[in-house]
Amino acid sequence: MTAATATTADTFRPALHYAARNTWLNDPNGLIFHEGVYHLYYQNNPLDNVWGNMSWGHATSTDLLTWTEHPVAIACDEEEDIFSGSIVFDQDNTSGFGTDSAPPLVAIYTSAFKPGSAHRGLQAQSLAYSLDSGYTWTKHAANPVLSRGSAEFRDPKVIRYDGDAGSYWIMVAVEAQDFQVVLYKSHDLKNWEALSTFGPANATGGVWECPDLFPLPLDGDPGNPQWVLTVNLNPGGPNTGSAGQYFVGGFDGTTFASSTTVTEGLQDPARLGEYQWLDWGRDYYAAVSFSDAPDDRRLMIAWMNNWEYANQIPTTPWRSPMTLAREISLHTVDGKPRLIQKATGNFAALPEAGQAFSLTDTAIAEGTHILEGAAGSVQRIDITLTPGTAEEFGLVVRGDGTCGTRIGIRPAEGTLVVDRRESGDTDFHESFPSIDSAPVRATEGSYDLTVYVDRCSVEVFAQGGQATMTELIFPPETSTDVTVYAIGGTATINRLDITQFG
Ligand code: FRU
Repeated sequence: MTAATATTADTFRPALHYAARNTWLNDPNGLIFHEGVYHLYYQNNPLDNVWGNMSWGHATSTDLLTWTEHPVAIACDEEEDIFSGSIVFDQDNTSGFGTDSAPPLVAIYTSAFKPGSAHRGLQAQSLAYSLDSGYTWTKHAANPVLSRGSAEFRDPKVIRYDGDAGSYWIMVAVEAQDFQVVLYKSHDLKNWEALSTFGPANATGGVWECPDLFPLPLDGDPGNPQWVLTVNLNPGGPNTGSAGQYFVGGFDGTTFASSTTVTEGLQDPARLGEYQWLDWGRDYYAAVSFSDAPDDRRLMIAWMNNWEYANQIPTTPWRSPMTLAREISLHTVDGKPRLIQKATGNFAALPEAGQAFSLTDTAIAEGTHILEGAAGSVQRIDITLTPGTAEEFGLVVRGDGTCGTRIGIRPAEGTLVVDRRESGDTDFHESFPSIDSAPVRATEGSYDLTVYVDRCSVEVFAQGGQATMTELIFPPETSTDVTVYAIGGTATINRLDITQFG
């Protein structure tokens, strides 16, 4: 099909998430906050709504919720596809692409060389630069700048390191089939020196892709910075398919040493549940953080899809949304450093839409109970629940009595489940109708969930963001009921607040 052909109503287009107007997207690329604007570049097929012709699309936002699409930023050509990468603000013009008074933005991306190229079959790292704050880009004449003669060397994330070892650029990228993150150093973004490698470790059930490396203070203490290395892998996630894992440790300017590695070398599949996951759901992949986010915040966005069925999801004329942006922080949980995640964006400035709904201290009897006045398809649900005698209790969203997406707690198992087997259109791929789970434990006897519902997705943040689950759903437009339920006994709602968005 061509990009502009819309065949059915665009009922799944999200209100709070970015999706391209009428084309395909996958990984977020080059996330940067620059001159007051959040820039989201992304893997884009400018000509169709399935994967191909990989180029960098571009959108901008000032509130992380409403996005404006711009023309393609970096386009593929006869020689190369433009695979994932990052952008830095080269403030001191170390690359020489700008001037001291007008320093450039520099994109570091993977050239996936095509059969017609002298580098055919290779993946190597290349540069492009922008002198107009990120709207137009010029490819560097001497690309690629870093090749290992490898066909699986990709997804460079470049950061500025400023520490005991000096001040320079660091690149983390992957040797995807070797389950390795490779680290390089540069003073000018053009000449790169190999530093070290990390992996294989923990989950290795699929290729390693899209790494990131950044410092975070542990428990908010600036005197105790730790380093976080994130690595996406496909397949091999905790509920099958694409997912992201992370490691916490130290980085001395040369080597990342993890303190949270469970298994060195190739994975023991039985131990998947012991690894640290950015998200336990099916649709959180290629997560990466913004460069230069304000106030040293660490903000991440992921692609809300899964390579298992990405090209088949029933949206048109676009295909694949991004997730909400998340602010992440590092806290000690049960004696170990763990990421805590919260959705971020200027929700307060969104126009009022519909009546807010609240409940306090309400028993849930066995069965399913519709909440009159709570229906919606773009909403945030904050709920705190205390177990009674029920083996499972929770919420059904986007329901209509027949279909719905179940979000529940099983206290004896210590799990959060998202069941989308009856969520609406599920038959476009055999692995889509799923019931997925994540480990959660009660805090002072209760469970809290924040759920963002947005037309074709649910993003669940449990226990203040200690565990998250992100899942696509494709319900009928008219299925908007919110119900609470308890199976095999009772439970109590301590507090429930539902905010409706436009
Ligand atoms: C991850 C990925 C990257 C690659 C890009 C190609 O989803 O496979 O490794 O750069 O997508 O579109």
